[in-house]
Amino acid sequence: MKQLSLCSSILKFTEIKEFTDSLQVDENDLIITCRYIYEPYFGSFDLPAQIIYQEEFGSGEPSEPMIAGMLSSLRSDYKRVIGIGGGTIMDIAKLFCLNNITPLEDLFTGKTTAEKKCPLVLVPTTCGTGSEVTNVTIVNFPALNSKLRLAADAMYADEAVFIPRLLEQIPYQIFATSSIDALIHAIESSLSPLATPYSELFGHEAMRMIVGAYQKMRKNGKDLLPNLLEQFLIASNYAGIAFGKAGCGAVHAMSYPLSGKYHVAHGEANYALLTAVLKKYSQKTCSEKYDVVVTILKDLLHCDAEYVFDELDRLISFILEKKPLHAYGTAPDDLPAFTDNVLKYQQVIMSHNPAVLEREDIMDIYQSCL
Ligand SMILES: NC(=O)c1ccc[n+]([C@@H]2O[C@H](COP(=O)([O-])OP(=O)(O)OC[C@H]3O[C@@H](n4cnc5c(N)ncnc54)[C@H](O)[C@@H]3O)[C@@H](O)[C@H]2O)c1
Ligand SMILES: [Fe+2]
Repeated sequence: MKQLSLCSSILKFTEIKEFTDSLQVDENDLIITCRYIYEPYFGSFDLPAQIIYQEEFGSGEPSEPMIAGMLSSLRSDYKRVIGIGGGTIMDIAKLFCLNNITPLEDLFTGKTTAEKKCPLVLVPTTCGTGSEVTNVTIVNFPALNSKLRLAADAMYADEAVFIPRLLEQIPYQIFATSSIDALIHAIESSLSPLATPYSELFGHEAMRMIVGAYQKMRKNGKDLLPNLLEQFLIASNYAGIAFGKAGCGAVHAMSYPLSGKYHVAHGEANYALLTAVLKKYSQKTCSEKYDVVVTILKDLLHCDAEYVFDELDRLISFILEKKPLHAYGTAPDDLPAFTDNVLKYQQVIMSHNPAVLEREDIMDIYQSCL
């Protein structure tokens, strides 16, 4: 079994100019970004590329109508794609480095195959998704009431670039949801049967870095965040390397219908379900990877194994308030449809769980979070 492949070169720059000089941007480049990230940091360089601003095509996370709008308004003769932004921008940029992406649903349901059109450079401005090193993109299809996930090697970035300065103005809420997402990538990938000693090296270290940084913030105050942003950026990348190999599991799979229907931010939707899923595993016969993860977490949280998920909740809820699903609009009537959606569309992700979750387990988890 393949142990790990890292398909993107990883670069780090202190100054924006070092990055633009190294890229040699020209009129054949397509930059996908947001105006309020691009203008303050890159605007003065007056780069000759074709630039599209995601927010002009819709708000929130990637959706099929947003991508269709972008596609119809750009010149298609570009020879390289540069995505500068959070997971939303990076996931969109991955699609634009492919040939022929319409109809988008066919690509996501396996009717057509992803083929690389041109090189891709990704620059993350949040500290969560790890998308800069994964071959995954996630898009909401309003017609299906859910997000769908596409994994294809053609979407690996050729270069993943860190410029920690770009996170200086990150709103606290975005930091919180994205870093929680990274922690969940680290946990779920470490529980996956596809994890190897190499992916675990990155997943376990990401858990230590993120839990450690949260504990520092709890002890010394949230004002410490600017000093910790680079640590979070690196940890989210480690977690991306880990889940790029081993995948995520039920927390992600079960969050997609919630995010899709009620537009809950990805990391926040995951957090709403995290400890309920982990507690469900504790009632099942799990692979030994589960015990390894519990041991790491209990050592980090200085508690006994039986309290580990409550302690984890206590720590994360210092970073972001945990809400029940009904606070997002979810009603009891939604739960059978959410469960059907997981069983119909998320089977690949569910195969990464350390124990089998049946229909009634999934319903039970949703019910306990309602
Ligand atoms: N492809 C993958 O491997 C993968 C993994 C996990 C999540 N995702 C996807 O990533 C998306 C979530 O990404 P995210 O959590 O990075 O958030 P995001 O990209 O949706 O950004 C959230 C908001 O923060 C703003 N923002 C981003 N960086 C900023 C900065 N430095 N300063 C100020 N504002 C900034 C954005 O413009 C946006 O308004 C979801 O769609 C999720 O499905 C993809
Ligand atoms: Fe995620």
